[in-house]
Amino acid sequence: MADVWQSSMDHAVAVARKAGEMVRGALKDDRTVMTKSSAVDLVTQTDQKVEQLIIQSVKEKFPTHRFIGEESVAAGESCNLTDDPTWIIDPIDGTTNFVHAFPFVAVSIGFSVNKQVEFGVVYSCLEDKMFTARRGRGAFCNGEPLQVSEQTDALVTHLTCVFRVRGAGTAAINMCLVASGCAEAYYEIGIHVWDVAAGSLIVSEAGGVLLDVDGGDVDLMSRRIVAANNRTIAERIVKEIESFTLQRDDAP
Ligand code: IPD
Repeated sequence: MADVWQSSMDHAVAVARKAGEMVRGALKDDRTVMTKSSAVDLVTQTDQKVEQLIIQSVKEKFPTHRFIGEESVAAGESCNLTDDPTWIIDPIDGTTNFVHAFPFVAVSIGFSVNKQVEFGVVYSCLEDKMFTARRGRGAFCNGEPLQVSEQTDALVTHLTCVFRVRGAGTAAINMCLVASGCAEAYYEIGIHVWDVAAGSLIVSEAGGVLLDVDGGDVDLMSRRIVAANNRTIAERIVKEIESFTLQRDDAP
């Protein structure tokens, strides 16, 4: 059966690639830094330009679609997910990495309909790796199928005291590492919907498990997530985490 969202997904891949070119170019000469909500919440002109590039090109092709973009929300746009087709965009996931030229920087585009993520695209622009997932149709990196690891001993891509830890400095790439079988889990409290919308589908389509840090169902607006290769490791992480609540992304 024809996939009604295929042309949107093709467009997401094409525009993510273009955005990645812009990020690579800017790394050489345009990394002027500004701050947003706090001294460690960084934004560059490149974040803003890349988001504009993505939104403009999608608007031309799909004029009825809606957007949730990191920089648009920072500029005062709403962050409410409706049932309408919605592009959830992080133009540069790993802005701090970008500022320091630490080589893990991603363009992340999730696409949701009826509040369900239909496809996710994460372009790791410096590694030139295009991660994609379509709901019910698997996850891929540069066209090769992805599968989470079968390890029961965990390498975790965020802070925790009982597992071995690595971190790429971008939520989207951390999740793609889990989807690729290079790490067993990732968890974070404090992320936003644009950091994880695409990556969460990539993990689940690669056979992984998503939970809230309290062990319930994941809620992409809640700013908390555990992503793991299997339920046993996800639940072990849940047990270790001292969870807390932050203001939701969609808080009025
Ligand atoms: C950040 C990165 C980082 C994570 C933060 C995110 P940004 O996104 O994903 O790894 O720890 O929670 O906000 O600001 O670079 O788009």
